[in-house]
Amino acid sequence: MQLTQSSVGRKIIMAVTGIVLVAFVCVHLLGNSSVFVGANAINAYAEKLHSLGPFVWVFRLVMLAAFAIHIIFGIQLTLENRAATPERNVQIKRLKTGFGAETMIVSGLVLLAFVIYHLLHFTVRVTNPDIYVPLGDQGMVDVYVMVVKGFKSALPVILYLVGMSFLFLHVSHGFQSLFQTLGLSNDKSLPVMETVSKLVGVVLLVGYISIPLLVVFGLIKI
Ligand code: HEM
Repeated sequence: MQLTQSSVGRKIIMAVTGIVLVAFVCVHLLGNSSVFVGANAINAYAEKLHSLGPFVWVFRLVMLAAFAIHIIFGIQLTLENRAATPERNVQIKRLKTGFGAETMIVSGLVLLAFVIYHLLHFTVRVTNPDIYVPLGDQGMVDVYVMVVKGFKSALPVILYLVGMSFLFLHVSHGFQSLFQTLGLSNDKSLPVMETVSKLVGVVLLVGYISIPLLVVFGLIKI
């Protein structure tokens, strides 16, 4: 299929915003890993972040813009692709590109739903009033207690496991795809990039799901 100039431009912007989002999920996982060290470690990390004041809001605005652009262009490109793909070629295309590639729009939209739920759960803190315990007199919340109590009921654990599975699906295709879009991989390096991409997906999946699972199995506890 012939790509128009504007859709090439949008694909490049999706690749660049994709890099920003992957960098965020990697750094966020590193920060969250302080929960394995203990309550003081994750609370000190949260306090450090909040002490950055206005920079936190600049960072949030940049992330929000990257996320919004990535989603809007993703939806536009999917609709354009669908309009340009004759029905009889759909089966052939599916065989050539694979499950991860064909479900990018679905995994992306599930991730959007997950992020909205996650923000209500741990940032806006409205879903489970019983898990938010104050820490100190600076309006902080005990993040360690919030995370442990937050994974004490089945529904959040299931929603996080589902969310992380879709994160795996999305990143393990998207990461290698962005290198292709930016012209940084060729036929020779493509298989390597595909493996690296899957590896990044697996590290994120295992890293993130280990937090709720270790709480469920009582290895991270209050
Ligand atoms: C087990 C998995 C996860 C845990 C335990 C976790 C934990 C947290 C916590 C504790 C906060 C609030 C930090 C604070 O305000 O002090 C937070 C914020 C956030 N998380 Fe996660 N997170 C997880 C997975 C994810 C994933 C997979 C994404 C993205 C796809 C994500 C995106 C965000 C965003 C955007 C924020 C808001 C950051 C801000 O306040 O500026 N999280 N997370």
